[in-house]
Amino acid sequence: MARVLSGIQPSGELHVGNYFGAVQSWVADQDLNEAFYCIVDLHALTVDIAPAELRKRTLETATTLLAAGLDPDRCTLFVQSQVAEHTGLTWLLECVATFGELRRMTQFKDKSGEGSHPSKSEAVRVGLFTYPVLMAADILLYNADRVPVGDDQRQHLELARNLALRFNGRFGQVVTVPEASVPAVGARVMDLQHPDRKMSKTAMSPTGTIGVLDPPNTIASKVRKAVTDTETEVRYDPISKPGVSNLLELLAAATRGDPAELAKRFSSYGSLKTEVAEALSESLRPLRERHAQLSADPQAVLASLAAGAAKASSVAKVTLTRAQAAMGLLAAW
Ligand code: TRP
Repeated sequence: MARVLSGIQPSGELHVGNYFGAVQSWVADQDLNEAFYCIVDLHALTVDIAPAELRKRTLETATTLLAAGLDPDRCTLFVQSQVAEHTGLTWLLECVATFGELRRMTQFKDKSGEGSHPSKSEAVRVGLFTYPVLMAADILLYNADRVPVGDDQRQHLELARNLALRFNGRFGQVVTVPEASVPAVGARVMDLQHPDRKMSKTAMSPTGTIGVLDPPNTIASKVRKAVTDTETEVRYDPISKPGVSNLLELLAAATRGDPAELAKRFSSYGSLKTEVAEALSESLRPLRERHAQLSADPQAVLASLAAGAAKASSVAKVTLTRAQAAMGLLAAW
């Protein structure tokens, strides 16, 4: 069995873009692979976040992932900060990575506002700069063969591969060189109000984003308000009909159908919207119900995270110890 690892930011409630774009394939991967899923709370510290908020969102993210079908008996779900080896390997990799290659990371350039006033770069956090090295450690600690990520993480994955190759080249074969696995473009859910951009919680588009826990009447109202176009024909054509095509994508994701095929069944936008809302509500029902049960017992969620961290740590420890020895660090007696 191949080993798969992925990470998710503890942003709290997931939206249907995260769900159909990533989490559903994580659920499927549990049975086909040895799967590790990491809630990356250390990465969340690279931007301002209130401590109580981080704690709440991390628990909420875990609860939602469990509700979505990640099963602690079939995968290892854990919180990054609970496995100390992540920061341990990060330092070793920071001594392999170069300033130049980290400075070229486009996400760092975007988030640090590169090119703006020099005084601003003085205030950029070091953690934001070394973010991709921590991500490489997340992956290499588990000797992951495959890393399912969104398109925006390709460059970070390439860095992880380069660091793995360099480490092995310099110190001997210790870590597996991981492959990125980026889903087909079809799995991209767009904002309902701005179908030219990806659905995103940070886009501040409350009616354009459907949360996986939204009650059916909220889903119906957001879908009803979704932007379409001035024509009336229901046709799958993402370039000239992005709004309608996104609704068809959502329907396809919820019913495991094909968007172009589904389009033929509708003669008006109204009937398409009604069906999209119903299909979404229905496909998310099990998740909503499990979430209600799980959130009534946060202790059980915490216990399952602790068990996940112990399992993860037993694997991570072996890699970290080998990496330390390979670099010449004296083994503890
Ligand atoms: N940087 C990733 C994101 O923002 C999250 C992440 C952290 C990750 N560590 C990872 C993804 C390891 C895959 C593997 O989406």
